[in-house]
Amino acid sequence: MADGGRRGLARGLTSYGDADFSLYLRRSFARSMGYSSEMLARPVVGIADSASGFNNCHRHFPELVEAAKRGVLAAGGLPLVFPTISLGEVFLHPTSMMFRNLMSIDVEEMIRAQPMDAVILLGGCDKTVPAQLMGAASADVPAVQVVAGPMMPARWQGERLGACTDCRRFWAMYRAGAIERRRIEEVEGNLATTAGTCAVMGTASTMAAIAEALGMALPGTAAIPAVHADRLRAAEASGRRAVELARDPIRPSQIITARSVENALRVALAIGGSTNAILHLTAIAGRVGVEVSLGRLNELSDSTPVLVDLKPSGEHYMSDLFAAGGIGAVMRELEELLHLDCRTASGETLGERLAAPTGYVDRGIVRPITEPYRREGGLVALFGTLAPQGAILKRSAADPGLFERAGRAVVFSSLEDLAARIDAPDLDVTPDDFLVLQNAGPRSGAAMPEAGYLPIPAKLARAGVKDMVRISDARMSGTAYGTIVLHVAPEAAVGGPLALARTGDRIGLSVKARRIDLLVDEAELARRRAQWRSPVRTPARGYAKLYMDHVLQADAGCDFDFLIKA
Ligand code: FES
Repeated sequence: MADGGRRGLARGLTSYGDADFSLYLRRSFARSMGYSSEMLARPVVGIADSASGFNNCHRHFPELVEAAKRGVLAAGGLPLVFPTISLGEVFLHPTSMMFRNLMSIDVEEMIRAQPMDAVILLGGCDKTVPAQLMGAASADVPAVQVVAGPMMPARWQGERLGACTDCRRFWAMYRAGAIERRRIEEVEGNLATTAGTCAVMGTASTMAAIAEALGMALPGTAAIPAVHADRLRAAEASGRRAVELARDPIRPSQIITARSVENALRVALAIGGSTNAILHLTAIAGRVGVEVSLGRLNELSDSTPVLVDLKPSGEHYMSDLFAAGGIGAVMRELEELLHLDCRTASGETLGERLAAPTGYVDRGIVRPITEPYRREGGLVALFGTLAPQGAILKRSAADPGLFERAGRAVVFSSLEDLAARIDAPDLDVTPDDFLVLQNAGPRSGAAMPEAGYLPIPAKLARAGVKDMVRISDARMSGTAYGTIVLHVAPEAAVGGPLALARTGDRIGLSVKARRIDLLVDEAELARRRAQWRSPVRTPARGYAKLYMDHVLQADAGCDFDFLIKA
């Protein structure tokens, strides 16, 4: 038993050199908050609250916290809420990705340092759930994930709008001159109209599904809309369950295993999940010493069909998936492909969970495995001379007509260069070219922003071009779509082959062969390599320095080297 067998408030005493004094002082100060000694004798359930005025997706967390506390109290525990860092996706500079690991450290250390027998993780917006699962896995205290749940789409002028695939659709129309300023301002006010995470199968929704597929969230909870009463009931049930886990622990390291990680990958592939999910799941698995190989991802992708028809790969929204049967319906279809012996935070094995009676399933949204939406999984890893350690393509949200070809590279050396030239009338570019962005990876100084969705050059967009092959070491939003090759590793900023590409080079893409190659002879590459100088300056101090000194490449999930489990 951890902590010398101590439970509840007696865990992890503050060091005064006298344990009895420490406990006496702690109880005294706890009683100053008005708790009775009976309450203070209960199992303690921490509630990690990531609400913030800078996080619209978590604006309903006060209600969720109350529901979770209600469940803990009803089951005989003592709920103690504590704040952690919050990461509101669109409020952080340069990108939330830079701070995921910082939040994971906060979560891990506060779980470990404070006296709790179990913890409820309240997260939702893109990086918050990965950060919480990474931190909880490292702390290895029994944990239940409760997610924010998705926003509802809004009815607007005869169509449904939901963040953020529709954000991008309308912005592309505005850039192409198809709609005016006044109309894009109207759209702006109607894209995100409720609490909750982005309404499509973006990163937040994918991570919610992964939390449930891993077994870290209670069954059936991933897709419940943020504003639905079931979301509050899920928080209450999670509170009850956390007390049971406090009394009879199942630790994250017993739930997050090589087998449950494969289950989560299968689910991510079957739902047409976000490319970001590969980074995050790799980082979560790394915290328990499990490696996610991109080669294995391809094997799983080849044998996992896309079953869910959600934007950005399909047509519907997360609230539709909830009404259609949720992630449970998807997992039942995948049952023969899953490892059913995996333990879950609910206390059941996955097999026991899936043996429960099937509820209503809307087959227009969750297809049977015999009639999938697509025969192969949504994500695929590419390797080759341009990406020796791999790159990712979301083939379910890309144009298959662009998958087997070579093209002329049009190279942008940085985000600044991209912004300066992409819409220039004299940019030498055709729809058959491959747009290449360098120096937007984890160690670029930009911290791997969601810039991989390079805009179609304005003059081509106005001519009606909707998609082109785009290649970078950046990420892209889970709500985005297009023939976009991302996460190229090693990145340009550390001298990966991407750094050597020049405008006019030929690049070969074959999704069928899983290849992405820089078609330049080795002597020329050697010459360029000898001339290459890192464009990056390491910051002198603070978290930015810690990040730059320790962040790993995309194929290792961009965790810090000292946080992964050896
Ligand atoms: Fe929070 Fe999209 S901005 S999930």
